[in-house]
Amino acid sequence: MISFRDLGIADQRALLQEASRGGYAVPAFNFVFMEQLLSIVDACIERRSPFILQSSSNTCKNLGIAYIRALAAASAERIKQETGSAMMALNLDHGLNYEECVQCVDNGFSAVMIDGSMLPFEENAALTKRVVDYAHRYGVAVEGELGAIPGTEAEEEHGNVGVSSCYTDPALAQSFVEETKIDCLAVSIGTSHGLVKIRPDKNGNLPDLRFDILAEIERRLPGFPVVLHGSSCIYPEYVRMINANGGSLECVQGIPEESVRRASRTNVCKINVASDGWIAAFAATRKALAENTAAIDPRIFLRPARKAMKDLYIRKIDTIMGSAGKGEQSG
Ligand code: 13P
Ligand code: ZN
Repeated sequence: MISFRDLGIADQRALLQEASRGGYAVPAFNFVFMEQLLSIVDACIERRSPFILQSSSNTCKNLGIAYIRALAAASAERIKQETGSAMMALNLDHGLNYEECVQCVDNGFSAVMIDGSMLPFEENAALTKRVVDYAHRYGVAVEGELGAIPGTEAEEEHGNVGVSSCYTDPALAQSFVEETKIDCLAVSIGTSHGLVKIRPDKNGNLPDLRFDILAEIERRLPGFPVVLHGSSCIYPEYVRMINANGGSLECVQGIPEESVRRASRTNVCKINVASDGWIAAFAATRKALAENTAAIDPRIFLRPARKAMKDLYIRKIDTIMGSAGKGEQSG
């Protein structure tokens, strides 16, 4: 058993409580490869933003839990040296089962998400509660999910499309939180994973997020941290860059930046970003490869990819999350 505290990793509950009090959101950035991890840390150190480093269940399998633990510990050490704070939590994103969550708790994660959203309410609550009972023994935070957020990481990897959402029922959310004792709840309010997040209505207007659901959850659970998944903006400039350099991304539609920014000022205290990081990396990589057709050194595309991702994460911190400078108080 290796505690997150021994690795200098921050307590996610404390980061979200601060965000709840301060009216901002903590960015939760998913990483799948080394340059992405470095760019996340670069950006958050520069902006002094608290953040949650996220590894999906797939990434835990691809890299192996020992690498994730060591990479997170090295990141925490660098952050402490450069900022004097412990402002990085480590979270398992979309944990699939109890065993996976236990493995992460035992390997220095300060938070785990158990995604039982596809199960009937009682089964989801029972599974989530089992994870909470284990994780809380070690001070590890648990995120549950209620109301399905469409699209999975596997679909996302293949650029698949998935839209229609099953909105979270605020009354059920209240029962779920009370029964399970989770620390934060992922809700479905109109966002989705993947490249097509929302579709225009018959008049051609994009539907807004369901801020009424957020408000009702806040009324029932005052101060309780809510999590927003599937909220990448799919910025047109990166899509254009991808397509100008041999890509073929078509009919994509992200969540407008202003909607996510507005959500960050509500009871939403954690906002997950995966796809926008991938798109920034792809745009820079395709451009670098197109401009250097005879190159064989991977740094030809890794350097611009790291820079593009860092710029993207800084943009998220500054224009959406409102979290710049908030890491100074952490740990
Ligand atoms: P995006 O695909 O919109 O970035 O969502 C990421 C996410 O929810 C990871 O859990
Ligand atoms: Zn998600």
